[in-house]
Amino acid sequence: SDFAPFAFHAVGQPTLDPEVHGKSAICISILKLPLSENYILDLFIGSTNGCERTSFAFLRQELPVRFANILKEIDLLPDKLLSTPSVKLVRSWYIQSLKELIEFHQKSPDDQKVLSDFIDTLIRVRNRHHDVVPTMAQGVIEYKDTFKVDPVTNQNIQYFLDRFYMSRISTRMLMNQHTLLFDDKSGSGHPRHIGSIDPCCDVVEVVNDAYESAKMLCDQYYLTSPELKLTQVNGKAPGEPINIVYVPSHLFHMLFELFKNSMRATVEFQENSSTLSPVEVTVVLGKEDLAIKISDRGGGVPVRKIERLFSYMYSTAPRPNVDDSRNTPLAGFGYGLPISRLYAKYFQGDLNLYSICGYGTDAIIYLKALSTESIEKLPVFNKSASKHYQATSEADDWCVPSKDPKNMAKQSAAS
Ligand SMILES: Nc1ncnc2c1ncn2[C@@H]1O[C@H](COP(=O)(O)OP(=O)(O)OP(=O)(O)O)[C@@H](O)[C@H]1O
Ligand SMILES: [Mg+2]
Repeated sequence: SDFAPFAFHAVGQPTLDPEVHGKSAICISILKLPLSENYILDLFIGSTNGCERTSFAFLRQELPVRFANILKEIDLLPDKLLSTPSVKLVRSWYIQSLKELIEFHQKSPDDQKVLSDFIDTLIRVRNRHHDVVPTMAQGVIEYKDTFKVDPVTNQNIQYFLDRFYMSRISTRMLMNQHTLLFDDKSGSGHPRHIGSIDPCCDVVEVVNDAYESAKMLCDQYYLTSPELKLTQVNGKAPGEPINIVYVPSHLFHMLFELFKNSMRATVEFQENSSTLSPVEVTVVLGKEDLAIKISDRGGGVPVRKIERLFSYMYSTAPRPNVDDSRNTPLAGFGYGLPISRLYAKYFQGDLNLYSICGYGTDAIIYLKALSTESIEKLPVFNKSASKHYQATSEADDWCVPSKDPKNMAKQSAAS
């Protein structure tokens, strides 16, 4: 309730519009929707002080809003999860960061010292939150080890973690943008990039990079790796390279995870054959969507298990040093797929797995082809959200086939 003034929803929309602001000035507009009114903030790129002040004014409001929103949801978690040391620790990081950011509310954007202190604070916050994912995962495991998890709690925790990690992706994106653009010490990245956004992201190049990185790991561990067979179709401009406005590091993350999974499955499934089937990648740019399909012949996954692959609760433990032969460097604690799907969804895309058990798997990443549709997807805390945390178990409205054959004799005896 202390954070009540921040309890509204905001949506950021990075768009590139060189037309409006002259040839050299590329801008990111951030569309803000505090329920009724909405206004647009243009963050001009370049080192004029005006941009940094605008970005500062936006972030000192927006970051506390996002932190406060997710803190509200943390507090709705089951008590037994909330009281694990790991979740307590994560919660304390959020509270500390929220406090530090709120301090800037009284400060003048015209003071150069304030602006540079703000950058220092952002870096400190970012570092503090560095291990949020493994720490939270540890909390879930502590909880899982101590209490039996029912399907409803499992669903609630899945709901929470998807929103929690999505919120984290968004706040890191905002903090990175500001520090990349305005911190002189951070060094200028690629000249074409706007912070972490590439207005002309070469999708095939990122596919190749991610493949090579995964291949290196795979070769190291298995002494072999499947080849890459790439097909690209530019349905918008046939023959032209495929470019979209995107955050290359996000795309790399998703592709790297999918390649690791496909390579591991292929090598393990085909361990007795002399040659390995390649991993086939199809990149297609259509009018609305950019799709990347990664197909492997790694034996697939039964339909029954597909949903589980995206579950945080069913994943393996994040115990990095256990001497487990199944714990290959290509498989960590099982967050590869769920986190990758969040990256895809963050800018209104998606990530799906279609598998044929006994054969192989197609993983498809869908992204928006148009930057105007690449709007952040953010969790918002409200009544509907809080309903998801009420642990009510409703009766199933489909009949469940019983696992054991019915004992007719007993039944008729009872009636
Ligand atoms: N292409 C695939 N073929 C067969 N099984 C797959 C494939 N992709 C994923 N899986 C199965 O899904 C599980 C979960 O994948 P996920 O990437 O989320 O976690 P992981 O690979 O176990 O660990 P990491 O966190 O390192 O990615 C894998 O352990 C594997 O059993
Ligand atoms: Mg994986």
